[in-house]
Amino acid sequence: MELSGKVAIVTGSGRGLGLAYAKALSAAGASVVVNDVDRAAVDEAVAALPGPAVGVTAAVGDSESADRLVAAAVESFGRLDILVTNAGILRDRVLWKMTDDDFDEVIRVHLRGTFTCARAAAVRMREQGEGGRIILISSPAGQRGNFGQTNYAAAKAGIAAMARTWAMELARNEITVNAVVPVATTAMTRTIPAFAPLIEESERTGEPLPAWVRRDEGLGSVDDVTGLVVFLASGASRGITGQAIGVGGDRLALWAHPREKSVAFRDGGWSAAAIAAGWASGFGSDLETYGIPAPKPPVPQEQGASAPSAGPGAQGQGSAGPGAGSGIGA
Ligand SMILES: NC(=O)c1ccc[n+]([C@@H]2O[C@H](COP(=O)([O-])OP(=O)(O)OC[C@H]3O[C@@H](n4cnc5c(N)ncnc54)[C@H](O)[C@@H]3O)[C@@H](O)[C@H]2O)c1
Repeated sequence: MELSGKVAIVTGSGRGLGLAYAKALSAAGASVVVNDVDRAAVDEAVAALPGPAVGVTAAVGDSESADRLVAAAVESFGRLDILVTNAGILRDRVLWKMTDDDFDEVIRVHLRGTFTCARAAAVRMREQGEGGRIILISSPAGQRGNFGQTNYAAAKAGIAAMARTWAMELARNEITVNAVVPVATTAMTRTIPAFAPLIEESERTGEPLPAWVRRDEGLGSVDDVTGLVVFLASGASRGITGQAIGVGGDRLALWAHPREKSVAFRDGGWSAAAIAAGWASGFGSDLETYGIPAPKPPVPQEQGASAPSAGPGAQGQGSAGPGAGSGIGA
């Protein structure tokens, strides 16, 4: 995909997925503004990119940082075409132990940072009048909820909601807004107990993660995620907007948006007793699952037994009751 002449900002691109996005956009021809809180990581990333790049060391969250990023794009490269709001942190704790600071910090970086950066980018892209691409980074935790991630799941769900809202608001300007739902081995996911040994082994040997991890869990390297970001940044994705698209390992997934699943009508409205009666007679017979399912390695096959089938369409897992396993939550 050809991005020559395009200018991109990638927040949190000093390492991990952000660095991979910045490298991939740069390799496709875009000039890139690299951003991170870590100055050394910013300098290293700028030096590692194959094309023109500048660095801005700033904590995404407030308007000043967002304005600095857009100003850097315009002053260094004359314009802004692509924004990837990737910067992120985790402060995981169960609800009853989560502090105000845990909550506020995660909301500030992810939700507020996405808002302030997208707003600054939208102002500039609208002024240019040539369309644009805003690529937000959500998470499976935001789509389904995840144990220990009140703050993060709320922020990432909010980001998906903002993508749908901004897709409407910016449609006339031909600025597309989509939410990527990535999964990849990074400093964030390395802490997940079910995957840690597999990731360590893969890094030690240089071998790819096992096929079931890449396919069923959709977990692979950061480079497995970059194709979707480059596609969404390019002209090939024209008209694709307001979507949440998952990618990781060998898996690409279009997430459904929330919609009414079961609808009933009653003249005069619904009293509590009427709801209880309606529920018992079938209205609520197929409740939604929630939570990210815990990873399930395939059971070694016994002779004559049929193989486990968790193919690419294996959706809708998860728990409809308490004790949901904690899956890939980053
Ligand atoms: N790794 C995954 O599987 C996964 C899954 C779903 C979502 N995500 C999301 O992808 C993004 C990148 O995740 P990652 O796994 O590469 O994490 P990471 O921790 O490896 O990288 C995050 C980067 O963001 C930077 N950062 C943190 N706060 C910042 C701020 N206020 N301003 C600027 N930079 C800041 C960090 O310094 C770091 O370089 C995050 O938004 C994360 O929530 C990751």
